Amino acid sequence: MDFFNNQKKLFTAALLLFVGLALVICIFPALQSMRDYQPLPNTKPLTDSEQRGKDIYVSEGCIACHTQQVRNVDMDQVFGNRPSIAADYARNKRMNVWQNTANLLGSESTGPDLTNVGNRQPSTDWQYSHLYNPRSVVPESVMPSYKWLFIEKPELGVNDIEVKVPEKFRVGITGKIVASQDAKDLVAYLLSLKQAELPKSMPPKEFLYKKEAKPSAAGGDGLPDGENLFNTNCATCHQTSGEGVPGAFPPLKGDKVVTGEDLELYVTIIMKGYNGLAPAYGVMPPVGTTANFKPEDVAAIINHERTSWGNQGKKVTAQDVKAIMDKLK
Ligand code: HEC
Ligand code: HEC
Repeated sequence: MDFFNNQKKLFTAALLLFVGLALVICIFPALQSMRDYQPLPNTKPLTDSEQRGKDIYVSEGCIACHTQQVRNVDMDQVFGNRPSIAADYARNKRMNVWQNTANLLGSESTGPDLTNVGNRQPSTDWQYSHLYNPRSVVPESVMPSYKWLFIEKPELGVNDIEVKVPEKFRVGITGKIVASQDAKDLVAYLLSLKQAELPKSMPPKEFLYKKEAKPSAAGGDGLPDGENLFNTNCATCHQTSGEGVPGAFPPLKGDKVVTGEDLELYVTIIMKGYNGLAPAYGVMPPVGTTANFKPEDVAAIINHERTSWGNQGKKVTAQDVKAIMDKLK
């Protein structure tokens, strides 16, 4: 066998084998993961304020109760539209020579996952009230109150943000409750937490262990469960009781818009948000657009509100709502 006696052939064969294997098991996978770990196209780096907010998130120990990872299991679907992937964290860089990257994935889920909280709860008013005292907006909450992030002032200054806190939670406070710079930064950081959509070029990510879609439960009229939709999308502010939060979020119980005739205004408020009651209340964000409501969802919510808490209003159909939503687009 000439091959085993020819050092040139032997060497070339060994070299080719080595290079080939190196490419397959090392270099190609590395290039692939370099691509996977690029920040997603529609994301931005944190602003200075958001970065300071992140530092406060770390120093206040929010990670003790909150994760920032949508796991690949169906039950996490409420926290994001897709499971989290490595690229979601690609903008996290080493802080400096001495401090490592602060990846805030977390492991305790005493509270909800915050990966997408900026989309789920975009109202700064809600975030401030909630941080000041979570019980003021979520009566059954076990989250601690972060009162020290707020200042009491006799009068509002020019750039002061007043936090609307119901009387019951203003124990011993006579002046105005104002958000400190720390609170502003922390809320800026929370609102920056939005799960980015994957670009079309990437394969979609699916959740595992999907539950069978339940046949449309309630309504009877072919609409989805309005009570459930209300509780997920509206109750954080207007409360399951429909009574709202005094001074912060208006009641829908006995409300003129809810029980009244102006369906166009009602649908517009749900889809586009509202500021018609200022200055008595803050701004309502465009909840319906963020949640991608279909006319059926909006009709189901309206019917739930019109038939709950003693409200008596005419029921609507998805067609009534669709006509208005088409106009809004
Ligand atoms: C002892 C556990 C605990 C700690 C510590 C904690 N939270 Fe929470 N958090 C909760 C619970 C429970 C909820 C759900 C009830 C509620 O909304 O208040 C919650 C809810 C939230 C929500 C609303 C999420 C949603 O989907 O509506 C935000 C935002 C939030 N927390 C931010 C923070 C921040 C910021 C910190 C640190 C300053 C923090 N939390 C510290 C337990 C905690
Ligand atoms: C982040 C808090 C928040 C969420 C979530 C929210 N709202 Fe509102 N809503 C408000 C605020 C604040 C106002 C008052 C806005 C203003 O000042 O005009 C308001 C006003 C309204 C009004 C008008 C009341 C009136 O008398 O003019 C209706 C109707 C309403 N919301 C329905 C809904 C429905 C339905 C949902 C769920 C799909 C919802 N809201 C979700 C905060 C919220």
